[in-house]
Amino acid sequence: MEINHILLLQFLMGLFSLVGFGKSDPNPLHDYCVANVKGPRNFFSNLVPCINPDETSVSHFATSALSEPGDMNQFNFNVTLTNINNLPGLNTLGLAMARADIAVNGLVPPHSHPRASEVSILLEGSLLVGFVDTSNRLYTQRLRSGDCFVFPKGLIHFLYNTDLVNPAVTISGLSSQNPGAQISSLATFTSKPPIPDEILIKAFKVNGQDVTRIRRNFGG
Ligand SMILES: *[C@@H]1O[C@H](CO)[C@@H](O)[C@H](O)[C@H]1NC(C)=O
Repeated sequence: MEINHILLLQFLMGLFSLVGFGKSDPNPLHDYCVANVKGPRNFFSNLVPCINPDETSVSHFATSALSEPGDMNQFNFNVTLTNINNLPGLNTLGLAMARADIAVNGLVPPHSHPRASEVSILLEGSLLVGFVDTSNRLYTQRLRSGDCFVFPKGLIHFLYNTDLVNPAVTISGLSSQNPGAQISSLATFTSKPPIPDEILIKAFKVNGQDVTRIRRNFGG
């Protein structure tokens, strides 16, 4: 290849990496845009409108939403997340923070966040965590308190508390103000309306009774 072809290629790849790949939420055009969650909701866009900057206060940038654990669910965990209601100052900044409490033997089952990468620090307890990449390779690790782990955007991951005595507490930063979460088993077996049984029978190579049993196990 001629030298200027190589330079052109390098230039284009640099450009693509700037404008295309790994882009998170849109960049804010103001210092901040405190979410106006009380305004009319008959206006829809990718962002929530901001309140008048003259009316912002420090309370918009602080929250105690993650100070207490929430109630445990059927998998024995709870996740509390910041959002535009409990922390309106994060609007447009492309960030969220989550607290996960995982009881003894509790599991945050395989799930993904379609709009965010996540980095977690384990504050208390011990966890077996992992994610599967798109070539189906599993990356898994045992975490002790103080350890961090990264879950890349959109990839299926799990957190399992293998400790027999202590609950686990993690704090995560997420690269979107609205990361979204999809638990694989629930999305597959408890959607409304349901995915037709014949699809699940073929997809999981099981029979109709298996599908019924799994649906029932999830309360369906
Ligand atoms: C966590 O607990 C709160 C209430 O304490 C509940 O509203 C929420 O649905 C729970 N979240 C999960 C993921 O279990």
